[in-house]
Amino acid sequence: MNLILLGPPGAGKGTQAKRLERSHGLVQLATGDMLRAAVASGSGLGQRVKAIMESGRLAPDAIMIEMIADRIADPDCAAPAGAAPGSAKSGGFILDGFPRTVPQAEALDAMLAQHGRALDHVILMEVDEAALVERIAGRFTCQNCGASYHERFKRPAVDGVCEVCGNAGLVHRADDRPEAVATRLAAYRNQTAPILPYYRARGVLRTVDGMADIDDVTRQINAVLRDG
Ligand code: AP5
Ligand code: MG
Repeated sequence: MNLILLGPPGAGKGTQAKRLERSHGLVQLATGDMLRAAVASGSGLGQRVKAIMESGRLAPDAIMIEMIADRIADPDCAAPAGAAPGSAKSGGFILDGFPRTVPQAEALDAMLAQHGRALDHVILMEVDEAALVERIAGRFTCQNCGASYHERFKRPAVDGVCEVCGNAGLVHRADDRPEAVATRLAAYRNQTAPILPYYRARGVLRTVDGMADIDDVTRQINAVLRDG
C-alpha cells in the first residue's frame, strides 16, 4: 500500500505517519526529515538547502525529485509479493512532505510507473490556520528520528525524551519561528494546494478532519485505508 499524507505545515502528517509505520508496516518517507538530516551532517546538499529551509521556502524541485526517486527504488519501499492491500503489515510507503508542487506530483507518477507501482490513497488533513500556528509554536521535535511532541497536545511519557527512539534531544525546529511559519503557510497555499485538483480528478483524494484529536485522526485515516 502506497500513500501520500497531504496537508499544511503542522497538520499532523509526521505524527500520523509514525503511527502508520508501526500499525501497517509502511516506510515513512519524510522529505523534511531527510533534508534536516542532510543539514545536520553538513553535506553539500545540506549546505544548499539550509538557508532555504530556515526561511520557510521550498527547496528546488530537481533536488526533491532526485531524493525521492533514489529512496523509492530501495527494497524496503516495495510491498512484499502477495500482500493484501490495506491489510496490517502490507508493506509500501507513506510520503510525508512530497509531492509539494505540480512538477513533483507529475515526477512521482513517472517514478511509480517505472517501478510498476500505484498510489492507493492521497489523504488530505484539513486544519484551520489558527490551529496550525498554535501547534507549531508548541512543538518539540526529536533531533534523531523526527518524531513530534507538543507542550499541550502530546507530551512525551518522560519529559525531554523521545518515546520512539529514546533520544534525549527534543528541540524547536529552526523553521518554527513565526516569520518562517508565515512563509511556509504561503508556500502551501500557493505551491502545494494546486496539486489537490490533480489528485481529486484521479479519484484518489480523501479528506480527514485534522482538527480532531490525534487518536481520532488516526481512526479516520484507518477508516480510509480499510474502506477506500
Ligand atoms: P516538513 O518537515 O515537511 O514540514 P511541514 O510540511 O511544514 O510540516 P511539519 O513537519 O511542520 O508538520 P506536520 O504536518 O508533520 O505536523 P506534526 O505531525 O509535526 O518540511 C520542512 C521544510 O523542508 C519545508 O518548509 C521545505 O523548505 C523543505 N521541504 C520538505 N519537503 C519538500 C518538498 N517536497 N519540496 C520542497 N521543499 C521541501 O504536528 C505538528 C504539531 O502538532 C506537533 O507538535 C504535534 O504533536 C501536534 N499535533 C499533531 N496532530 C495533532 C492533533 N490532531 N491535535 C493537536 N495537536 C496535534
Ligand atoms: Mg512533519
